[in-house]
Amino acid sequence: MARILGIGNATLDIINTVECYPVEDDEVRALSQRRCIGGNCANTLTVLQQLGHDCVFAGTLATDTDGDEIALGLQQQGINIDYCHRVSGESPTSYILLSHDTGTRTIVHYRDLPEFSLADFEKIDLSTFDWIHAEGRNVIETTSMLSFIHERFPPLPYSVEIEKLRSGIENLFKGAAVLFFSRHYVTHLGYSNAEGFLQQLHPSLPNIEKICPWGEEGAYGLDQKGKSHHVPAFSPLQVIDTLGAGDTFNAGFIHAHLHHYPFAKSLTFACQLAGRKCGQYGFEGLIS
Ligand code: ADP
Ligand code: FRU
Repeated sequence: MARILGIGNATLDIINTVECYPVEDDEVRALSQRRCIGGNCANTLTVLQQLGHDCVFAGTLATDTDGDEIALGLQQQGINIDYCHRVSGESPTSYILLSHDTGTRTIVHYRDLPEFSLADFEKIDLSTFDWIHAEGRNVIETTSMLSFIHERFPPLPYSVEIEKLRSGIENLFKGAAVLFFSRHYVTHLGYSNAEGFLQQLHPSLPNIEKICPWGEEGAYGLDQKGKSHHVPAFSPLQVIDTLGAGDTFNAGFIHAHLHHYPFAKSLTFACQLAGRKCGQYGFEGLIS
């Protein structure tokens, strides 16, 4: 069991399950609705906590009632929120259409809340942690947080999730132990496949495990030595809910890495866990 700090976003997800994805300007009735905590970092910690780790979330939480709901929900899962910064404002929300037909999720995310800052981060006692996982957002402040780790706690390993093209995001790459790149990020850079992207990155970033989760194709990765790996997806009997599949994958990989699994076995474990998640609603009871 490791003590893991996650830096990033926690949201309120309002998920409407619909028969199939509607056409524009249509009016449809949802089959069901559920509210739950979301956000890439919060989801990854939710799964890591279930995998037996001691997780701490560091991010901003609004002082509104949704913020209370998010705070309580995280705590009920056993995730510590002592280092969160409560700020006045509106909680981030995602309104999500989950297609019953295909299991795909379409997310409309709204956020207008100050981000977690370096000043907040510096208050954390990093000496108690075994691993840090950061979302690649809030780039300037996150770059400073990662530099702070290098300067003050050089052996402390961390992973970064690079999901979206953001100005200066490459500054988060150097020094990570593990980098997760989304398909969205890679394809928006103009690469049609993950392997080409990973190979060109390797010379400037040796010794870093670089991974591209790739939806129903599974995942691609380069190990520390630059050896290429591909693991196919593990398809559930029925794809029910892909919301948070990537967040689950990241948790699975971090868990396997912390257990010193070989790289290919870590990719396999992450794909198995993410595939299992796609076969069920939400994250509850994912680890049996
Ligand atoms: P996200 O869109 O949530 O970021 P991805 O589409 O990148 O997630 O998928 C993450 C991982 O989830 C993949 O590497 C794969 O292992 C698993 N996965 C995603 N979609 C499916 C699917 N339809 N069937 C099985 N596994 C899937
Ligand atoms: C899924 C997710 C949702 C959240 C959205 C934020 O990966 O984390 O839970 O609402 O993405 O962009």
